Amino acid sequence: MTVAPERFQYVQQLVMERSAIVLSAEKAYLVDARLAPLARDLGASDVNEVVDQVRSRKDPSLEQRVVEALTTNETSWFRDSRPFQALERQVFPELLRQNATTRRLRVWSAASSAGQELYSVAMLLEDKFPQLRAGWKVELVGTDLNTEMVQRASEGLYSTLEVNRGLPASMLVRFFDKQGAHWRVKQSLRDRVSFSRINLAGPWPPMAPFDVVLLRNVLIYFDMKVKTEVLCRAVKQLAPGGYVLLGTAESPNGLCPQLVPATTEGTVVYKVRRA
Ligand SMILES: C[S@@+](CC[C@H](N)C(=O)[O-])C[C@H]1O[C@@H](n2cnc3c(N)ncnc32)[C@H](O)[C@@H]1O
Repeated sequence: MTVAPERFQYVQQLVMERSAIVLSAEKAYLVDARLAPLARDLGASDVNEVVDQVRSRKDPSLEQRVVEALTTNETSWFRDSRPFQALERQVFPELLRQNATTRRLRVWSAASSAGQELYSVAMLLEDKFPQLRAGWKVELVGTDLNTEMVQRASEGLYSTLEVNRGLPASMLVRFFDKQGAHWRVKQSLRDRVSFSRINLAGPWPPMAPFDVVLLRNVLIYFDMKVKTEVLCRAVKQLAPGGYVLLGTAESPNGLCPQLVPATTEGTVVYKVRRA
């Protein structure tokens, strides 16, 4: 069963309003696939009936389930590896010198999905910058639109399949406990991160400036206007000398002219252009 065109348009609009995610017409298959489990949960005969129920009930939690079902949460540990090399070799060494007096370091994973990105940063800092343990205040903040992802990230519980995606065996042994068929990030590392829900396209809560904003693999889902707004707001959240990291398929060109590349080997990280 394929979602009927006018029901697809209803979902398209709902998802746009609540997340700014653009569901183009060729994404109808996504609605079919992602709302099928919801149809089973609701006892609906098919996806069209799910849409009809959402429409008639006007239940915000049901609407949220539809929107969340249509987010793409693809992620992995140390995703694309090179950005993490840039963090290790250029970004964090520079920030540690720059913040030597305040001894404060703040990192925001702004579309943190199930947490792999932020935990990768936490493990990197723990492994390569042990000096941070001596009196530094390190704040690692992860946020995502999808409440189920926020919950999963906070729990730090991953399947064997998930830990096999990019996590070096040495890190698995050092930073995880085996829990039945799963692996759980050790409490000591979980204590260093926090996760909450933020819709990047909605109002953001007041936040102190960040030294690094990871805004990776999320702008691709938005239209130009929202991409521009989100990126420029992220830039305003930067501490002086701070860095923005985007996904490998993403660029600030044409979106936010004050952001310029600060190239490192094989990857690009971005800084605000000096006045
Ligand atoms: C493909 S994942 C990227 C995860 C991670 N940053 C990475 O690069 O591996 C995209 C994430 O963006 C989140 N997302 C989509 N729209 C969002 C919005 N409007 N506000 C906040 N997060 C959003 C999704 O829920 C999803 O977890």
